[in-house]
Amino acid sequence: MKRSWQRLWQCLPRRNYTTVQLPYTAIHTPVMLPQVLEQLAPRSGGIYADLTFGDGGYTKALLDSCDCKVVAFDQDPSAYEKAKAMAALYNGRLIPVLGRFGDIFSHVKSRLQWTLPCFDGMVMDIGVSSGQIETPERGFSYKLDGPLDMRMFSRGRQSTPKNDDEADLLKKSISAYEVVNFYPQDQLADIIYQYGGDRLSRKIAGAIVQARHKEPIETTGQLANTIQKASPQPKWKRGRDDMLRNSAARAFQALRIYINDELGQLDQALQASEYLLRPEGTLVAVTFHSLEDRRVKTFLQHCTGKRAIHDTTDHFGLKRQAYHQAKRHLRDPAVVHDVFDQDQLYAPAHHPTSAAPSFTLSSKKPIIPTKHELETNPRSRSAKLRAAKRTTSPPLSPFGSPGKDDEE
Ligand SMILES: C[S@@+](CC[C@H](N)C(=O)[O-])C[C@H]1O[C@@H](n2cnc3c(N)ncnc32)[C@H](O)[C@@H]1O
Repeated sequence: MKRSWQRLWQCLPRRNYTTVQLPYTAIHTPVMLPQVLEQLAPRSGGIYADLTFGDGGYTKALLDSCDCKVVAFDQDPSAYEKAKAMAALYNGRLIPVLGRFGDIFSHVKSRLQWTLPCFDGMVMDIGVSSGQIETPERGFSYKLDGPLDMRMFSRGRQSTPKNDDEADLLKKSISAYEVVNFYPQDQLADIIYQYGGDRLSRKIAGAIVQARHKEPIETTGQLANTIQKASPQPKWKRGRDDMLRNSAARAFQALRIYINDELGQLDQALQASEYLLRPEGTLVAVTFHSLEDRRVKTFLQHCTGKRAIHDTTDHFGLKRQAYHQAKRHLRDPAVVHDVFDQDQLYAPAHHPTSAAPSFTLSSKKPIIPTKHELETNPRSRSAKLRAAKRTTSPPLSPFGSPGKDDEE
């Protein structure tokens, strides 16, 4: 039996998708596009927010599907230029915004001055676009040599901002060049471990520090070589997934997540969605990394009443501490073994009794790409889609209110 989104995809007026030609060549293949559309179920007159415009794959599909409006965010000046070029084709139905989606609440409230809630759907497709990775001057790729940068909101380390908005985004930012050449060894190791999960993070950080004593690490090629020498790819680790095989892939990802504050941005956007979505409005998040997916899942667990608002126990951290203490205890019985408190670890969450859920889950499990998509678009390999519908209840604000700063 065909799954419902497949049926819906077949019913969509596909001829429309080719009627508007993009004024640029889109190189990013949108991940799980039919599933995203099925969840958002766009309708004429609706207003949708695409928080990660990229090459505009989702935005274009939304605009072509019915007579709706889309507010398209991207922090990348070149993506914003593409959004402006696309907007010219859609007669006021596409509103491009150059900015970070973590600031969406203040953009909508203060800059657009819209009354909240205003969106019938919000979608985010977290991470980098193929265009960013494949442009060596942006300094994202360990495979293509270029000046180290990795800031999604810059045009490259050697370029200058073209207007005040671009300059604003670059203000107080830090590029990969600065992190790699000036951060203390311990902090480098923590970043590589925390966001890349590499168990050889200390060795890799040590090698980076040694290399930079000889000469500054200016390029992605220099950095990738240094990392791969410190932690060569084991011969037995084969397969196509670079994240499993290649320490440079993991370290580059870690630096990128840190430099762009990707997890902080995600938290802020999730927080804002409770205030920006109209009742029945849908939140769709496509993630590519377990750290991102866990955040979306936790947020939705809180908002759907499956986890108590005050239950902020870091179960993963507690288990890790308990494991290390148990190992130390085995080596030296004098070490007290007190973290592994089963009651604390496995206590059931206290369900909020007074607060009604602010979201209902659209599907219990995350939606993953089809076999066909996995074969035709390798980038979709680790993608997970979670979706939820806003209820009529007031926000539960599990991560705090996004308007805090505005009100101060
Ligand atoms: C995976 S791509 C999106 C691709 C898009 N869905 C498409 O179909 O073309 C992610 C985009 O999100 C942007 N992005 C990532 N983090 C962002 C943030 N915090 N604020 C605004 N844009 C962000 C990146 O610059 C990139 O262009």
